[in-house]
Amino acid sequence: MSETIHNADNQTGPHSAITGASILLDKVTKRYPGQQKAAVDGLTMEIPAGKIVMLVGPSGCGKTTTLKMINRLIEPTEGRIVLDEDDVTDIDGDALRRRIGYVIQAGGLFPHMTVATNIGIVPKMLGWSKEKIAARVDELLELVSLDPAVYRHRFPKELSGGQQQRIGVARALAADPPVLLMDEPFGAVDPITRQRLQDELLNIQEELQKTIVCVTHDFDEAVKLGDWIAIFTEGAQLVQYDTPERILADPANEFVENFIGSGAGLKQLTLTRVNEVNLADAVVASVGDLGSDVLSRLDEAGHNHAVVVDERRRPIQWLTRRQLTRLDRVSDDVDAKLPVVGDRATLNDALDTMLVSSAGAALVTGRRDTFLGVIDVETVMDAITRAHKHAMTAHSDGRPVGINTGTLDTVGTSGAATVGERPGG
Ligand SMILES: Nc1ncnc2c1ncn2[C@@H]1O[C@H](COP(=O)(O)OP(=O)(O)OP(=O)(O)O)[C@@H](O)[C@H]1O
Ligand SMILES: [Mg+2]
Repeated sequence: MSETIHNADNQTGPHSAITGASILLDKVTKRYPGQQKAAVDGLTMEIPAGKIVMLVGPSGCGKTTTLKMINRLIEPTEGRIVLDEDDVTDIDGDALRRRIGYVIQAGGLFPHMTVATNIGIVPKMLGWSKEKIAARVDELLELVSLDPAVYRHRFPKELSGGQQQRIGVARALAADPPVLLMDEPFGAVDPITRQRLQDELLNIQEELQKTIVCVTHDFDEAVKLGDWIAIFTEGAQLVQYDTPERILADPANEFVENFIGSGAGLKQLTLTRVNEVNLADAVVASVGDLGSDVLSRLDEAGHNHAVVVDERRRPIQWLTRRQLTRLDRVSDDVDAKLPVVGDRATLNDALDTMLVSSAGAALVTGRRDTFLGVIDVETVMDAITRAHKHAMTAHSDGRPVGINTGTLDTVGTSGAATVGERPGG
């Protein structure tokens, strides 16, 4: 199937093969007992392998019901669900759920189990050895940027909201399922933490290339994370199913326009990512460097700030000349308030971070939180002006099929093979 994905997404680095599976919802209907209207009414929708599809729409329109029918936590009343070529509508639900990771708000962790036990639940059910589970737990903790030695024995109540959410993601990925379902995963955390979790999800996805179906209330989040966005109205009626770029440029109707709301005005901020703009260099210092040495390097570069990184090249402090003058050697203190933004973050996120920190600039990190460079307000403004000039000129053929109560003539499970690019970037 869709083995060749054109990398129009402006991602950096080498790419692993897609490990995700395509999903086809084929005329799927859910009628809850005693309800007059169907919660999901004849929905046909293709979800391409290795892509992130965001489900958005007003409260009660059937997003959660749609999501839960994919892993049959809710049984469809009518219709078929096909994973890759496999009709899974009638297979054992428990077996199916081991092939599909599921993440809910606040991680949905079991409070009486440690982080390691929580993450290892599915592998344990699958009969993995203790050693294999332990190794997998550590690997996943690294993947979600938590130090295994520090976190593996903690209980959920000893974690922040964002950390719990990371564990929820790690747990869902434990048995390496091809599909990940997420229901408002980042709804319960503050905006800056949410932004970091989103960036992390994008980094993880770049590495793993799962098929991710994610429900959100936040249209900006849908634009940031989604390769495709499905906009639903009541009864899970698909109003528009397209790339974020095309939905913003060409909303299908007034309902979509209203739904996009004020976000559309600043769309270049949401559509452009930090890794698409030129970052400024910075003078980088290491723990233990002499303050005077760092100062002379600032003089040489004509800079006023130095970024201190730890042994894994993660930024830990951002020092002014004045601070350096008072220092003998650079300490290993970690400044918890550093304005840091991931390179997959949107310019909107970057601006938020700068404003919160009032620094007028932010440190940009890449994979595993390593330091890449500095982004400032001028760079963001420049990028908006330039992006504006060639906005809307990008085009891409092929989009996944999605209709309600439609005929299957236009829908094939192989259709996803032609889908792949996101314009622009
Ligand atoms: N167990 C149930 N029994 C009866 N009706 C239900 C049940 N679960 C959901 N519904 C109804 O089905 C419709 C769709 O619900 P669903 O939870 O899928 O909406 P949603 O789009 O996820 O909403 P929200 O954004 O508020 O989470 C709603 O009208 C809801 O009241
Ligand atoms: Mg819901």
